[in-house]
Amino acid sequence: MHIRISSCIGVVLVWVLSNLLVPVSAAQEPVLEVRNGEHLKLWTRSALLAEAVEIQIDKDSAYKRRMTYRAVPYAKLMPQVEQHVSVQFVASDGFVANISGKDLAGKGQAYVAIETAEQSWPAVNPDNPHKSASAGPFYLVWLTPEAGNISNEQWPYQVAKISVTLTLSERYPQIVPKLTPSATTAQMSQAKLAVKGMQVYTKHCAVCHTINGGGDASIGPDLNLPFNPTEYFQEAYLRKLIRDPASVRRWKLAVMPGFDRQIISEDDLQNLLVYLTLMAKQRDPK
Ligand code: HEC
Repeated sequence: MHIRISSCIGVVLVWVLSNLLVPVSAAQEPVLEVRNGEHLKLWTRSALLAEAVEIQIDKDSAYKRRMTYRAVPYAKLMPQVEQHVSVQFVASDGFVANISGKDLAGKGQAYVAIETAEQSWPAVNPDNPHKSASAGPFYLVWLTPEAGNISNEQWPYQVAKISVTLTLSERYPQIVPKLTPSATTAQMSQAKLAVKGMQVYTKHCAVCHTINGGGDASIGPDLNLPFNPTEYFQEAYLRKLIRDPASVRRWKLAVMPGFDRQIISEDDLQNLLVYLTLMAKQRDPK
C-alpha cells in the first residue's frame, strides 16, 4: 500500500516537473482564435508572424502617432470576408467591435498587427491604470482608414477572438426601436430617425456599452437599464458628454472617448438622442 502511494506521488512529481520544464516562451505563446461557423482556426503568434509583412501606419488610433508593425493582411485570416455581414472582434478587456465584411475587405486596408516577443509595444496610455497594457498581442489596424471611412472604434486592440456573426441587432432584437401598428405618422418618422440613431449607436457606442441588456461589450454601463441617460441627464449635458466626456466630469480612470463632429455629425447625434429617448419607452427588463 505504502509503496503504491509513494510511486503515485513520484508519477505526479515527474508530471509536475515536466510541465515546469516546458520553455516559458512556448507555453505562453499568444493565440488568436478565428471562427467562421463550425470552422475554427487557432493562429499562434509564430504562425501569424510567418505570414506577416512590415507596414507603417501614419496615424495609429491607439498610440496617436506613426507606428511600424509586423502585420498580416486581414484577408489572409478570413478569405471571402466581403461576404460576411458582420465580424466580431472580442478584446481581452471587454471591448467588442462588430465590423462589416464590406469594411474589412474595403479601401481602409485592414491588417492584424502582431506584437513580437523581441519588440514589445508601449502602454496604450501610461497615465491611465486601466490602459497600462499594450495594444498587443493582436491589434486590428488600417493602412488607409480615411479611404475606408474607418472610425476609432474600428481599431480593436488586445484582440483574442474574431468570429463571423449575425449583426448586433439580429442577435439582440431588444436593441431595435419598435413600432406599434397604431403608430401615427409623426411616430413613424421618429422611429425612422431612431433606426438611424441605432446605427450610430452600434458603430460607436456598442463597442463598450449594452442597451436593454443587449450587446456584447462590458466596459461601460447599460444605457437603458435600470434607467436611460435621457431620463437623468439634461439634454444639453448629455450632448456635451458624448462630444467630450471630460467637459462634464473628469477623473483619471475615465475611458470613454469624445466624439467630435467629424466622427458623429450633428444630425447623427440628434438621431442617436432620438434613439436613446425612444428606447427609454420600451424598456425590457430581461
Ligand atoms: C471605449 C469605450 C466607450 C465608448 C466607445 C463609449 N462609451 Fe460611454 N462610457 C464608457 C464608460 C467606461 C463609461 C463610464 C464612465 C467612464 O469611465 O468614462 C461611459 C459612460 C457613458 C455615459 C454616462 C452614463 C452614466 O450614467 O454616468 C453615457 C450617457 C455614455 N457613456 C454614452 C455613450 C454613447 C452614446 C456612446 C457612443 C456615441 C458611448 N458612450 C461610447 C465607455 C465607452
